[in-house]
Amino acid sequence: MSKVNLGVNVGGLQMPNPVTTASGTFGSGLEMTEYVDLSRLGAITVKGTTLEPRPGNLQPRCAETPAGMLNSIGLENPGVEVFVKETLPKVAEYGSPIVVNIAGKDIEDYGKVAAILEKEDAVHALEVNVSCPNVKNGGMALGTNPDLVKETAEVVKANTTKPVIMKLSPNVTDIVEVANAAKAGGADGLTLINCLLGMAVDIRTKKPILGNVVGGLSGPAIKPVALRMVYQVHKAVDLPIIGLGGITCWQDAVEFLLAGATAVSIGTANFIDPTVTMKVIDGIEQYLIDNGYNDVHDIIGLAAK
Ligand SMILES: Cc1cc2nc3c(=O)[nH]c(=O)nc-3n(C[C@H](O)[C@H](O)[C@H](O)COP(=O)(O)O)c2cc1C
Repeated sequence: MSKVNLGVNVGGLQMPNPVTTASGTFGSGLEMTEYVDLSRLGAITVKGTTLEPRPGNLQPRCAETPAGMLNSIGLENPGVEVFVKETLPKVAEYGSPIVVNIAGKDIEDYGKVAAILEKEDAVHALEVNVSCPNVKNGGMALGTNPDLVKETAEVVKANTTKPVIMKLSPNVTDIVEVANAAKAGGADGLTLINCLLGMAVDIRTKKPILGNVVGGLSGPAIKPVALRMVYQVHKAVDLPIIGLGGITCWQDAVEFLLAGATAVSIGTANFIDPTVTMKVIDGIEQYLIDNGYNDVHDIIGLAAK
């Protein structure tokens, strides 16, 4: 029994502790059971799920960078029907809340995926990835246009009763404007941030390294940008935030909580240490005890006063 209260609620998603997994870096969770006690996670956030199966982008899809990595996976996944039938029941056995990250080639797709997941009791919340190229918008990412973010939130909300957490793209000038648009569309919470757009060049072949040319930068390199966005949105928008971007240890996680995140998510760090989520849960708890707090809420937003 924990000596302090670690439980948080993100727009209706009740989490026993504030630590979840960043979509796309933890599979469905089942791939990680050798290293992680899935039942201890605050929530399991699974790989991006689309209406149809997707083969993903051209190889190579990953490149190392000095303080992180670039990826251009392109949302490879078997499609929502296969996920619901084959994967979801197995993940549900672990008892942790399940957050399904959803994506689409256009806004209608998001609504259809949400409607399919609405029937599944094992799904506790939807996390809506708007960092996807939108076919009807010339391939521009939905998440860079506040009107489209609002519309996407509305369409998902119209198709589900589950908490809708909009995962915003950091590739914008004013993150608060996009966060306000998500709220206006009915979002129950926000996840901040997705990857920053980047590129790497191979000086030997004199070509871009990634098959897709550009990709998403993640890992410690993006932490200061992510913290800044969490802070700005926490101050300006009344919605709970799942903060992420470059968290590699409990100290990083505490920084996000202090900046205003209600929960945190761990991504790229899972590739370096697959047990990192467990260490972060323990570290947050110990930090609270060492500093005389008995509830995680006591530190949320302290650095944003
Ligand atoms: C290999 C890889 C795959 C990812 N796939 C998804 C995805 O399917 N959906 C999504 O919303 N974000 C995806 N992301 C973004 C992460 O969930 C996260 O927002 C980002 O990596 C920043 O966190 P980090 O620095 O802790 O990795 C992916 C990131 C990586 C590195």
